[in-house]
Amino acid sequence: MHTHANLQPFNTFGIQAQAAQLAEAHSVDEMRTLIDAHGTPDLVLGGGSNVLLRGDVDGFVLVNRIPGVEVVSQEGDRVRVRVGGGVVWHDFVLHCIDQGWAGVENLSLIPGSVGAAPMQNIGAYGVEIKDVFHRLEALHMASGEVHTFNHQACAFGYRESVFKRALKGQHIITHVEFDLSLTPTFHTEYGAIQAELETMGVTELSIRAISDAVIRIRQSKLPDPAQIGNAGSFFKNPVVPHAEYERIREAHPNVVAYPAGEGHMKLAAGWLIDQAGWKGHLRGTHGVHDRQALVLVNHGGAQGQDIWQLSEDILQDVKTRYGVTLEREVNIIG
Ligand code: EPU
Repeated sequence: MHTHANLQPFNTFGIQAQAAQLAEAHSVDEMRTLIDAHGTPDLVLGGGSNVLLRGDVDGFVLVNRIPGVEVVSQEGDRVRVRVGGGVVWHDFVLHCIDQGWAGVENLSLIPGSVGAAPMQNIGAYGVEIKDVFHRLEALHMASGEVHTFNHQACAFGYRESVFKRALKGQHIITHVEFDLSLTPTFHTEYGAIQAELETMGVTELSIRAISDAVIRIRQSKLPDPAQIGNAGSFFKNPVVPHAEYERIREAHPNVVAYPAGEGHMKLAAGWLIDQAGWKGHLRGTHGVHDRQALVLVNHGGAQGQDIWQLSEDILQDVKTRYGVTLEREVNIIG
């Protein structure tokens, strides 16, 4: 247990903030012992890649470091694996590729941990974690019991799960089981992947080639948190009724949008923010990334509150211009 701990290394935005107490737990038993001694954590962190700290945490921060990848079963070409919540997501993806386990290659290089991944149903390039998810185990902090959640119980949606809604703040995801395959189904319908594979000169598809293509695309437009503090997409792409999309399209014929279920369209928030003139916007210590308007960045020394204010200004501007209210994807703490 550390007191007056510096949280900067624990959040990819690189925000300077303090935790009154901080501890890292490597097993469920260690989590229970820490919670018995110090109470329910005020904040649970995995990779710290989807949080914005608006100030100090005047309480107890628990970091999930539960390790391990084990094969639970293998039948035919199906492999079921159980992974510790503290495993770095991209390390898990690379391990799968080395083993020839297909299913998560499109999710390469997403920052964060395995335990945090189901919380917001991480997704990229046509695949979401829900597509390979079997079930998870979560420590219910109030009772100390481990609860199991199957696919349905997680209530996955676009960057959504029950852990962000009805059960928010009650559990720590300790282990996640995935169903992977030895015979891959390639997901290359995303135009950017096809173009990148062509540039790379790939003639025979493989999960490694797809992973490499995704890594190259992400590196070309998303800032590396090790160099520039950020938390990936700051806002969600808003899903609006078709009539609202038509209203926007009349005024903005080039608006980028995708069908999103019966009668709805998903608007590219990056396009809305970019067209509103925010891309590359700089406020000294922080701003909007110059290659992807959906990503807010800390160039060094920004306060969480400053970044929050920038997000608020963008939100208000987008609302005024297009009549669309953006929703933050990043968890705001404090
Ligand atoms: N666009 C612009 N200007 C910008 C950014 C985007 O015009 O500054 C346009 C692009 O040209 C494109 C469209 O908006 O036509 C969509 O952009 P992109 O394909 O880059 O995807 P995105 O909607 O910005 C989403 C996810 C990403 C994920 C990519 C790829 C959300 C909130 N974001 O971004 O996820 O990697 O698709 O699948 O759904 C994350 O969640 O942190 C994240 C990075």
